[in-house]
Amino acid sequence: MKIIVTGGVGFIGSNFVHYIYKQRPDWQITVLDALTYAGNRDNLKGLDENRVKLVVGNTCDAELVDKLVADHDAVVHFAAESHNDNSLENPRPFLDSNIVGTYTILEAVRKHGKRLHHISTDEVYGDLELDDPHKFTEHTPYNPSSPYSATKAGSDLLVRAWVRSFGVQATISNCSNNYGPYQHVEKLIPRQITEIIEGRRPKLYGTGENVRDWIHTEDHSSAILTILEKGKIGDTYLVGANGEKDNKTVIELILKLMGKNPTDYDHVNDRPGHDMRYAIDSTKLRTELGWAPKFTDFEAGLKDTIDWYKANHDWWQPQKQATEAKYAKTGH
Ligand code: NAD
Ligand code: DAU
Repeated sequence: MKIIVTGGVGFIGSNFVHYIYKQRPDWQITVLDALTYAGNRDNLKGLDENRVKLVVGNTCDAELVDKLVADHDAVVHFAAESHNDNSLENPRPFLDSNIVGTYTILEAVRKHGKRLHHISTDEVYGDLELDDPHKFTEHTPYNPSSPYSATKAGSDLLVRAWVRSFGVQATISNCSNNYGPYQHVEKLIPRQITEIIEGRRPKLYGTGENVRDWIHTEDHSSAILTILEKGKIGDTYLVGANGEKDNKTVIELILKLMGKNPTDYDHVNDRPGHDMRYAIDSTKLRTELGWAPKFTDFEAGLKDTIDWYKANHDWWQPQKQATEAKYAKTGH
């Protein structure tokens, strides 16, 4: 099996590459990544270059994508601009990477008859009220809120159209909020851990009652492999691990696990259009394909993640100053 992993030196993509490297020792992996601010080639350190090859290039580069796809069996497509706050400041790169990038991949897999798994997000469904008894399912209508989630929704709809109109062999997964090693310091959990390490106070948007449904990134990887190997062509699978927590609780837990007073954080400007709650019902993936998450103890997973950031100062430190300078401009 020869697979292309787009976005494979970003957070979830690189965790997936490490996972596949261990789980499928006979697979050849080609990472296609543009090395944007979010990509770091060091994320592949320690992997045998005979098995994992990095091609630095853009998913919008049709000639490059065509050539690579012709020579592989499947594409797992992670590459995207991924941060809501950035999409509110400058939406354009989101249209390019998330929409045109996905279109370019689709045209190549269509031409060469190759398998595609498209990685998407629960944010395409918009948000839920805090007391809504229902969670997102594969049948929830699309209702994205931010430029980021709108472009992800657009990319999903392109994949569905290419399946129906051209018979492309694709599956889609929509996953909830991931946490774990190699996540950029712009995102909630690594931002607060590294703020505390650097002697500053965590920053909570608004009141902090917003709920996210946390899943360890390794559980996301196992779900993707399951869908890639056993998923029904044309189907969508929701990926989640029943990890709903409000942001205030998450920040207080990080402070506690790092030996600080749990109330030592600041309230900062809220995110415009801030989604209130995400929650995933992953029954279909569990019952039809037999998947189950392993990292169900959030506190233990968070503690390991804190330890990883403490041990990998050289990995995150170069990104930290520029990230905080950006947040200072928006009052976040
Ligand atoms: P990330 O920002 O950490 O990494 C994205 C990677 O894609 C980077 O390595 C970047 O260099 C690369 N990239 C961006 N645009 C590219 C382009 N045009 N061509 C080639 N490479 C490009 O993102 P992440 O958090 O790892 O998210 C990966 C995927 O998973 C995204 O599609 C995202 O929408 C989806 N997702 C993320 C989460 C989450 O909690 N982070 C949850 C569900 C789904
Ligand atoms: O739900 C899946 C999505 O999860 C993915 O599609 C996105 O790619 C990923 O970035 C993530 O989106 P969120 O916007 O939920 O993640 P973020 O880490 O930016 O923020 C999580 C919550 O924490 C959100 O309610 C905003 C809040 N927040 C964020 C930051 C950075 C804070 O309170 N303080 C902060 O400093």
